[in-house]
Amino acid sequence: MERVLILGATGNIGALAANRLIRENVILRLVSSRESGVHSLRERFPTAEVMQADWYDPVSLKTAMRDVDRVFIVTPDFVTDETVVTPNIIEAVRDAGSVAQIVRLSAMPPGLKATDVSKEVLATRCGAAQHMVAKPLLDASGLPITYLNVACWIMFNLSWYLSEPVKTKQQLLMPAVTDAPRRWVSEEDIADVIVRVLTDKPEIHVGQDYLMTGAEQFDYEDVARLLSDVTGKAITYVDDDSMLRTSMGDHFDAVMTYYTHESRDYVSVPASDAKLKILGVHQMTLQEYLTKNIAMFV
Ligand SMILES: NC(=O)c1ccc[n+]([C@@H]2O[C@H](COP(=O)([O-])OP(=O)(O)OC[C@H]3O[C@@H](n4cnc5c(N)ncnc54)[C@H](OP(=O)(O)O)[C@@H]3O)[C@@H](O)[C@H]2O)c1
Repeated sequence: MERVLILGATGNIGALAANRLIRENVILRLVSSRESGVHSLRERFPTAEVMQADWYDPVSLKTAMRDVDRVFIVTPDFVTDETVVTPNIIEAVRDAGSVAQIVRLSAMPPGLKATDVSKEVLATRCGAAQHMVAKPLLDASGLPITYLNVACWIMFNLSWYLSEPVKTKQQLLMPAVTDAPRRWVSEEDIADVIVRVLTDKPEIHVGQDYLMTGAEQFDYEDVARLLSDVTGKAITYVDDDSMLRTSMGDHFDAVMTYYTHESRDYVSVPASDAKLKILGVHQMTLQEYLTKNIAMFV
């Protein structure tokens, strides 16, 4: 049986993927850099092997990589120094000598390079600003890689900073300077694709760079209109940064800088239904997601 290592297993996407892989009877090794993270992984995934490892610490990373067949990597926005983390991961994979596939979650307009954005945007280490640094390093490594490039918004963003005022005040609050027509993908669809890519034979997906975006683009007025349709209440879009400010905390200024590039450079990213391509099933639309998760909004 193959062993799959998840770097980022305590996170939103990593944990979702872990849940599904357990159901597929995959042997999992889950990693957290924190003791409390290790503890929560043990509680949440009692059948998985759980280890403490930090991708800034090559020794712990090499130990975590030992006897691993596949690796799934999710790195967090704002805090990841890919110039250190990605070389450390590459070195650990080479050291293990057993890895047949690395699956990397990325998020960048296809073809965009680090030199195409300002130093200020790169310094945010958010979205493409981290992935554009990691990808050339991974590409140059010659290792067996599959990218899942989710170059759009993930629908779980709604629960972080958009749903509460929709519920309590029938208002969708976001600063107007960040508005743009955006594509959306559900976290459930991302997890489904990751599981398939990690459970098919590696050679089917190694070398692929799957672009995963939504079929339609929605600006804030469009999202408010969809929310009105789904909830049966008049939801109004309001130019207001209070929710974003609260949810981002210390990262608020960085995310606002990131949005100057994101709201411009992602607009031309095409529709791409990676789930249809890989699993033969259409991705969920934003309307379907809002309907399924209506309790978040009423
Ligand atoms: N939100 C969106 O709309 C959107 C859209 C497209 C793509 N994305 C991409 O999605 C990714 C974020 O996914 P997510 O929300 O699932 O991430 P997340 O919840 O922030 O999880 C990040 C993971 O990184 C781990 N981690 C942090 N520091 C570590 C270290 N030093 N060593 C080892 N592990 C470490 C964390 O584990 P511990 O803290 O337990 O160690 C955690 O499991 C980003 O790359 C972002 O660009 C987001």
